[in-house]
Amino acid sequence: MKVFISGNIAPVGLKELEENNISITQWKENRQITPEELIKACQDKDAFISVGPNKINAEFLKACSHLKVIALHSVGYDNVDVAAAKELNIPIGNTPGVLSGATADTAFLLMLAVSRKAFYSHKKIIKGEWKKYEPAPELGIELNGKTLGIFGLGKIGLEMAKKCIGAYNMSVIYHNRSRNEEAEKALGAKYVSFEELLVQSDVLSVHTALTPETKNKFTLGVFKQMKTNSIFINTARGGIHNEKDLTKALEEKIIWGAGLDVTNPEPMDKENPLLSMENVAVLPHIGSATEETRAAMAQIIIKNIVAGLKGEKLPFEVK
Ligand code: DGY
Repeated sequence: MKVFISGNIAPVGLKELEENNISITQWKENRQITPEELIKACQDKDAFISVGPNKINAEFLKACSHLKVIALHSVGYDNVDVAAAKELNIPIGNTPGVLSGATADTAFLLMLAVSRKAFYSHKKIIKGEWKKYEPAPELGIELNGKTLGIFGLGKIGLEMAKKCIGAYNMSVIYHNRSRNEEAEKALGAKYVSFEELLVQSDVLSVHTALTPETKNKFTLGVFKQMKTNSIFINTARGGIHNEKDLTKALEEKIIWGAGLDVTNPEPMDKENPLLSMENVAVLPHIGSATEETRAAMAQIIIKNIVAGLKGEKLPFEVK
């Protein structure tokens, strides 16, 4: 059996593939594989491990309908035409559960970094602009006792809420398609309408999937409803906020700051104005990039691949 992997996965995953006598071909170049190259690479393979934002659309699926299984190196599957895969009987696996803690850590890190202008201050040292101790440089704001608004309270949002309550005794409000009673009971989280979420949040953190409903949800009109001293955090998908509108909202001080682990497009252009703003922290989509989480993701991927190659039901299948 042969698998194509469009990037790097944790060594434990490669080892387990070898132990299962699955031969590996890996994309090693330091650029995203193109759709044409991907189709070509999958032609003589039985399975595909998708690392990165490959478009697993109807065109790709039709051209690779021989694949017995596709395992995503992600929990998100907004890049997959699930209906087309179903029609062609190609099971799609993802990696739910194991990356909630690491991704919430990244959201928490961004929130704190933005609130204290950490990335900006770090760049000042690199640029030789730290000339003397300054009691009132560009001042930050504190988070203690503030209101955390979660847009999309699933597993990752729940972890973020726990951290914010534990560290800063923040009150938690959330907006979802449906209520999360577990979070309400465990954290005292309060369900609010989307409008109330905007108006009441001091920190608004996005933890929803990218869907037609959430695509381009945060536009200038939406940012205008938020508090002028609020912080916007997105560790979910860049397509959920409108980047031009976010830039304008920050330039015109409509909101106070923003922390992004996801951008639109990715990679972000190094000249992007967001990168030089005081109250902005941007990371290159490293939400779940820890040794522990990557190893756990790789193990789930291999379980999905092995099951798919045997024609069995995937243990972690996208429904
Ligand atoms: C995920 O798991 O969805 C991460 O964002 C990586 O794509």
